[in-house]
Amino acid sequence: MKNRVPNRDFVGARVIDPTLGLDAIRTIAVRNGVIAAIIDGAPAEPDLDAERVDCAGMVLCPGFIDPHVHLRHPGDPQKETLESGLAAAAAGGFTAVAAMPNTRPPIDRASAVSQLIRAAEAIGGVRCYPIGSVTIARAGDSMAALRGMAKAGAVAFSDDGATTASLKALYHAARLIADLPQPFLSHCDDPAFEGALMNEGAISDLLGVAGAPNLAEAAIAARDLLVARVTGKRWHLCHVSARETIDVLRWARSTGVDASGEATPHHVRCTDDQLLGFDASMRVNPPLRSATDVRALKAAVVDGTIDIFASDHAPHAPDDKEPPLSHACVGFSGLETAVAAMFDTFRDLPIATLVANFSTNVARLLGVEGGTLAPGSPADITGLHLERQWTVDPAAFLSKGRATAFSGQAFDVKPAMSVVGGAIVYAVDRSGRPLQGPNAARRAVKA
Ligand code: NCD
Ligand code: ZN
Repeated sequence: MKNRVPNRDFVGARVIDPTLGLDAIRTIAVRNGVIAAIIDGAPAEPDLDAERVDCAGMVLCPGFIDPHVHLRHPGDPQKETLESGLAAAAAGGFTAVAAMPNTRPPIDRASAVSQLIRAAEAIGGVRCYPIGSVTIARAGDSMAALRGMAKAGAVAFSDDGATTASLKALYHAARLIADLPQPFLSHCDDPAFEGALMNEGAISDLLGVAGAPNLAEAAIAARDLLVARVTGKRWHLCHVSARETIDVLRWARSTGVDASGEATPHHVRCTDDQLLGFDASMRVNPPLRSATDVRALKAAVVDGTIDIFASDHAPHAPDDKEPPLSHACVGFSGLETAVAAMFDTFRDLPIATLVANFSTNVARLLGVEGGTLAPGSPADITGLHLERQWTVDPAAFLSKGRATAFSGQAFDVKPAMSVVGGAIVYAVDRSGRPLQGPNAARRAVKA
């Protein structure tokens, strides 16, 4: 039997919720794991049994949901485990994550979806939503049992890590389940360019290294959004990095295609010249692009063409990220830096927009609960400290991965609290010390 979550009043915070049009000091009253009320001042009829959580100096918003993480479960516990990945998510300010199916074995059948859900529930804390493979074994040619996975709880379908090679398989899959709400999430990278170590451009030419051009991404994005157009399927482009991909997304939406795209912190902040020293830790798919692409991507976030943020948390064991560049695994940990990096990059956008990109819009994409603090919703809440200086130290990550695009960078926004269904799964004070108390910060304390 699970312990009942205590009733709590989260008091004194600046509460920002784009769905309620709210930005004011409020008390969030949580009863039985659900938001009971958002109150101006003290509750009229205070519940004397409710625990008072002092949130003065914090911003509280609807729980952040990361639509794109790699938890490496099952198959690669040396890179990440469900425990370490979900702890990293909580510390990063996320109350839910959607887990990509490029595991060993891949999540390509209903039983694998159910097992992942059960394993994450046994850990508790941050919610974990499985994404099922589009094709059997993610091999790119034969459609997997999508309806069975949807019934078992898959929130979306993707062969992420690779493009679904067969247009025919992708088209048939989308057509077959066009009636289901689960979207397809495309990893756009033409397989013909496999083996590329970085972006193709001036830097790869200089280094004499094989690169993947913007076209390798944008051409597949166009292919996949055409599938969306002819099937009517809800579609989403993972980790958009090339300016031409944004053009393709704009075009598709202008013709009525129900499509969205996500931006990652590294693609809005880093450029391919960071590989000038053959830095293996910066190898990622899609690759870091040119400054022109970074500008275009940021502009697409500012104008709302891209309205979803994702970490693409892709942890690897330290050995996997060592030089040479050609041997290094692609990707790096992102859960514990994503919020700070995005708030820093888009400091001119209203906070409510950033909250929507991290929460409301993701809940809508995946068709999951949350994304709002409206009374009656599950009490999934993200707390942030603004104007809190800190420096990224990968040695302090709860993720097992130590590679990051942001080592040593200084930021001034830091996740302070993650509440899932009323349970405080992570909480720190302004100096980063775990808050005391029986239920607080269980996951902040490293074993
Ligand atoms: C991801 C991984 O390691 O699983 N790597 C990456 O560079 N992004 C795969 C992916 O998201 O495409
Ligand atoms: Zn991918």
